[in-house]
Amino acid sequence: MDDEFYAKLKERIMRYFEGVNPTHDFMHTERVLNIALNIAEDENVDMDVLRMAVLLHDIGRKEQDESCGEICHAENGAKIARKILREFGVDEVKINKICHCIETHRTRRDKAPESIEAKILFDADKIDGLGAIGVLRTASFAGHLGAVVHNPEIDVEKTKAYSKDDSAYREFLVTHKNIIDKIMTKKGKEIAQKRDRFMKDFFERANKEAAGEV
Ligand SMILES: [Fe+2]
Ligand SMILES: [Fe+2]
Repeated sequence: MDDEFYAKLKERIMRYFEGVNPTHDFMHTERVLNIALNIAEDENVDMDVLRMAVLLHDIGRKEQDESCGEICHAENGAKIARKILREFGVDEVKINKICHCIETHRTRRDKAPESIEAKILFDADKIDGLGAIGVLRTASFAGHLGAVVHNPEIDVEKTKAYSKDDSAYREFLVTHKNIIDKIMTKKGKEIAQKRDRFMKDFFERANKEAAGEV
């Protein structure tokens, strides 16, 4: 597929990202693409499958948010993607490969990524939640909820997601448990470990600042 194909595809899908939460807007997709291309350098990959899967992976997000989680954006996204890719004349074998990537990119799904392209999308998507960008995304989401800026004493078990207690730090404590173990590619793990270290250091520093120690 050439640049013109991707420009047209991007134009076609942009409407699905209008009004979505900034943590999953099209800039997230563009960052995931950059990470995926980096990981793909070390792997034998169908670049068109990977590129299209990344571009379309969160296309069903808006409907999931609007349905308060009732609709799964991975499953729904794969259906929307199939329709669009047929419109664009992509062959069915490739479409199936792309839909497998989209269907399996969620951490909470029971369907696991099997192909290398699906594994790379999965990793790149999780990596965008780590590091400096991870801090910014969690803070952005907490701000959207009107949550507290920082509570070093937060007890995850006694507080709820989507509440005023759902600070960036709470989100970090919840989502970062065993995150490195979930990353599937070698290069993905290397990147994730560096970003995870940065994030841990960041919140340790925030705890020290809150205590007036630094
Ligand atoms: Fe997603
Ligand atoms: Fe995503």
